[in-house]
Amino acid sequence: MSQPRVLLLGAPGAGKGTQSKRIVDEYSVDHITTGDALRANKGMDISELGLEYDTPGEYMDAGELVPDAVVNEIVVTALEEADGFVLDGYPRNIDQAEFLDERTELDVILVFDVSEEELVDRLTGRRVCSECGANYHVEFDQPEVEGVCDECGGELVQREDDTEETVRERLRVFRENTEPVIEYYDGTEAFAEVDGEGTPDEVWANVQAAIDERV
Ligand code: AP5
Repeated sequence: MSQPRVLLLGAPGAGKGTQSKRIVDEYSVDHITTGDALRANKGMDISELGLEYDTPGEYMDAGELVPDAVVNEIVVTALEEADGFVLDGYPRNIDQAEFLDERTELDVILVFDVSEEELVDRLTGRRVCSECGANYHVEFDQPEVEGVCDECGGELVQREDDTEETVRERLRVFRENTEPVIEYYDGTEAFAEVDGEGTPDEVWANVQAAIDERV
């Protein structure tokens, strides 16, 4: 059997990145994440599109979506190179969902359900390694030495879009643009809702069960 094609949907902070890593290890699939790809290209010159801002980073720091033309290109390239995958952070609006539909099928679509206050606590407390990108949390997932990555010794920093003001804006953009994407997939065979409020291990048990039922 070929490797599973998994889509994770959920608000910012719902745990998509955390669970993606486990899916990659367990099912040997590629991790396709538009957020990381855009962070690696924050300063890219997109002025020829003639839009509001000239770089992806300006959209991200404002909590807004980066234009579809930029993001679709990233996803198409990654899909061409992947056998199975876990797709995290895309599609974020109906146009992106329709674009994706034309390019690949999905075996599993999981939606993480987490309350808004829990999302704000998770995101404002998140710390990320400036060297290897590993994620921590000041309360829920502390490193052995404060401010230092357990894996590579790099410095832990707060993501620029994890301030409370930008987090609230990202959640508003999610409700407006991405909740309709969840409705778009709801009712398909691949679709399942997962309780995202337990510990990472509890959520993982639900994720694994939902994937194994569908592939
Ligand atoms: P992106 O990087 O995709 O951010 P996001 O969707 O906002 O998701 P996050 O990475 O913030 O959350 P997550 O669900 O992965 O949570 P995590 O596992 O880290 O996108 C950033 C920006 O890029 C966007 O705002 C936009 O501008 C742009 N962009 C990206 N894709 C785009 C697209 N398709 N179109 C247009 N623009 C796009 O968990 C969060 C924290 O909680 C961590 O600290 C973690 O340790 C902790 N945690 C996780 N699980 C648990 C748990 N079960 N219990 C307690 N703590 C937990």
